[in-house]
Amino acid sequence: MAANHAKNFAAVDGVELVAGVDVDPARLEAFQTAHKIPNGFASLDAAIAWGQFDAVANVTPDSIHHPTTLAALKAGKHVFCEKPLATDAAKAFEMADAAEQAGLINMVNLTYRNVAQLQRARQIVQSGQIGTVKHVEASYLQSWLSSKFWGDWRTGNNWLWRLSKKHGSNGTLGDIGIHILDFASYGSGLDIERIFARLKTFDKAPGNRMGEYELDANDSFVMTVDFSNGALGVIHSSRWASGHINELRLRVYGELGSVEVQHRHDGSRLRVCMGDDLDTALWKDVEVPPVPTNYERFAEAVRSGKNQQPDFRHAAELQKVLDLAMVSDGQHREVAVHQPQ
Ligand SMILES: NC(=O)c1ccc[n+]([C@@H]2O[C@H](COP(=O)([O-])OP(=O)(O)OC[C@H]3O[C@@H](n4cnc5c(N)ncnc54)[C@H](O)[C@@H]3O)[C@@H](O)[C@H]2O)c1
Repeated sequence: MAANHAKNFAAVDGVELVAGVDVDPARLEAFQTAHKIPNGFASLDAAIAWGQFDAVANVTPDSIHHPTTLAALKAGKHVFCEKPLATDAAKAFEMADAAEQAGLINMVNLTYRNVAQLQRARQIVQSGQIGTVKHVEASYLQSWLSSKFWGDWRTGNNWLWRLSKKHGSNGTLGDIGIHILDFASYGSGLDIERIFARLKTFDKAPGNRMGEYELDANDSFVMTVDFSNGALGVIHSSRWASGHINELRLRVYGELGSVEVQHRHDGSRLRVCMGDDLDTALWKDVEVPPVPTNYERFAEAVRSGKNQQPDFRHAAELQKVLDLAMVSDGQHREVAVHQPQ
């Protein structure tokens, strides 16, 4: 993912990639070479001691976001952090507090905000064109446990840490659940009020273990949701969705019409059915021009000194929903998001 950051940031006017940091020397060297980055450091502390930079893109594994982001903020650096912001909501709120107290730019890479079709769907819903929203369906489907489109998960540490709680992963829920929760609530313009979640981990290897990795993090989840306006929703996700590489779908149904966003590895689509088309159930494609990416907006935020969304606090609020999904699954009960449990 750091390669993605490097490519995207390098394309933003006025942004210069001045250094790479990785605890793995081979990966650091390959990264610097691929992106022509002049300086390299084996730790963030070493980079901070050098200090010749304004901002950090934190693309470390999930459990490393918290200590490294706090260290960067303490050194007065703006931070663009990968999702999930942390491994639990308490840590995520601590990061949001630290960034706000320091008055530093803090944004989280909820990548699918870059999907122009999602932005337009939100505008359509919020303009009232589909009326009061009654029902929401959202899914995030991947298949890297059943396909080799991205390589064989058995052979790479970059996949194995995602399957192991001890290595800081909250499984599918933590990895891509945060994306689809944001996709569903941002696209529908509605907050999540109550959830009921089920998580599932399937056996994948003898003893459900590969070397040092116990494969105990969830592979799939399903969630029913009550939104702030009373609408009901279903949100689900799996790494076993054979035939889908990386596909997010959102359908928002209102009393005057509906919108559907589909984002796949090979493109995005927005369709609407509303007005006179409701009676014939005719769906029409909507063409949408590109929108500024998170990378561009982070650079703009650093330049202007004005924070943009999605910020750490928003990501921490989503993290709270992820934490509660684990409570809901563990206790087999519905939980309210905005009340003490
Ligand atoms: N926004 C998205 O769409 C998206 C997509 C993929 C991954 N991600 C996120 O990006 C992050 C990284 O994922 P990845 O797939 O690139 O993982 P990865 O395992 O391929 O890469 C992580 C890198 O961090 C390095 N690292 C570990 N500890 C470090 C430390 N203390 N200091 C510096 N470097 C350290 C590792 O050596 C490795 O090179 C994760 O949080 C993941 O959830 C986001």
